[in-house]
Amino acid sequence: MRAPRLLTSTTLPPALSALAVLLPADAPLPEAVGVLSAAEAAYLTAERARPTALVRLPRYGTAATLYVLTLPTKPTPDLTREAVRKLGHQLNGLLSSDRLAALSIIGVASAADFALTLAEGVILSAYHFAPYKTKPEVPAPVRLTEVTVVGAADAAVRKLAATLDGVFLARDLVNTPFNYQSAVQFAEQMAEAGRQAGYQTEILDQPRIQALKMGGLLAVNQGSPDPPTFSILEYAPPGTEQDAPVVLVGKGVVFDTGGLSLKPTPNSMDMMKCDMAGGAAVAGTLAALALLGAKIRVVGLVPATDNRPGEVAFAPGDVLTMQDGQTVEITNTDAEGRLLLADALAFAKRYQPKLVIDIATLTGAAANAVGKEGLALMGTADEATKMALHTAGHRVHERLVEFPLWEEYGEQLKSDLADLKHYQPGGQAGHVSAAKFLEAFTSYPWLHLDIAGPAFLTAPDSYRGKGGTGTAVRLLVEFLLSD
Ligand code: BES
Ligand code: MN
Ligand code: ZN
Repeated sequence: MRAPRLLTSTTLPPALSALAVLLPADAPLPEAVGVLSAAEAAYLTAERARPTALVRLPRYGTAATLYVLTLPTKPTPDLTREAVRKLGHQLNGLLSSDRLAALSIIGVASAADFALTLAEGVILSAYHFAPYKTKPEVPAPVRLTEVTVVGAADAAVRKLAATLDGVFLARDLVNTPFNYQSAVQFAEQMAEAGRQAGYQTEILDQPRIQALKMGGLLAVNQGSPDPPTFSILEYAPPGTEQDAPVVLVGKGVVFDTGGLSLKPTPNSMDMMKCDMAGGAAVAGTLAALALLGAKIRVVGLVPATDNRPGEVAFAPGDVLTMQDGQTVEITNTDAEGRLLLADALAFAKRYQPKLVIDIATLTGAAANAVGKEGLALMGTADEATKMALHTAGHRVHERLVEFPLWEEYGEQLKSDLADLKHYQPGGQAGHVSAAKFLEAFTSYPWLHLDIAGPAFLTAPDSYRGKGGTGTAVRLLVEFLLSD
């Protein structure tokens, strides 16, 4: 779905359906919201004295339903911002039960800086995905269509609106079931999003992938009745065409059964339509940058296929020749993501990139290490770049935990048969050895984001909702626009 519209205005719109006032605990209600009756004022004072941060004042017969939100006090501005997003989630719940479709937000005094963040939390919470429902909901829900932040700076509003559109796109792509999203369909979905947002897409088909000798992607695809795709997304506004790009590489496994090494754990396959979430984050990020008209060249590379057991599927013990000519011994066909990413990372060299970031639902080990609360970061880019990414992560609350690429972890990847083994059965720190494997295919500053934990949620979590979260879109937009 397209994100609700985000607008700014200099004054309160005349016909309000909902008005949220965000203000510090000690601040009085601004006069602009109108005069409260004595009973309303007494109720508000009593409620605001309690730890409840959100007071609802239905103003029957007058203009707006009023929501008064007390700005949370947290140790850092970033943590305050996150608490405000969560307030936005609560507010969205009230808006739907009050059946209100348009919201205006005013931030008072020091809370003014957080008014857009409240809008962010509300809009992210308003996401819903129902293209396969054939029966109307009864009673028909009223959906949020528009949020106006009074006094917000135009540039900040445009940036947030574009970012939210990118997140909604990534969520839609992740939530689309495998039977509606073969590798070819996924590539076409990304290309269609590019036509709407303003980035270019070139889809390399199976013969082109064969000509490029992408042995990793082709091997994973062997068990599938559907061909693989390799999508090249490019956003290069006039004047940036000759710049060294940032390249974003996204894992595009449209469904992961594990292949012949079929997933052994009960239910572990159930959510594996989410295994293209890295690719979705790449498309969402490019869409946001293009909608915004950002002055930066970014290339997205998304190798895509499903991973299935089939009569001609690749097998443990196979030796593959990868895009860059290195040979790889296969030990477990469920460690498939690194194979297609390796080909894409090798392919990325031809862009002479200033930085490559790959994003992937790569390992259960990363999910075990940081859970759904963070992204695992590894890579060879310099400290300043990593620090800038950490700063962006705190700002949008998609926080990173860095793991080391110590040489010793590479021991797991030694093979008697080929240049490299892609996976060590029973090895520890599986997210690190996966990254060590990828490192062997890079020759430029590189960062790897393992999003296996946060990409897809089986139970709702505040404004992140349930299902695809769009993880890494807000992070990457913030990071790419911050230098
Ligand atoms: N797609 C999975 C990783 C994953 C796990 C994503 C949980 C999202 C949630 C990946 O391809 C995989 O199967 N990894 C295995 C590798 C191992 C069995 C060789 C893993 O990490 O368990
Ligand atoms: Mn797998
Ligand atoms: Zn996978």
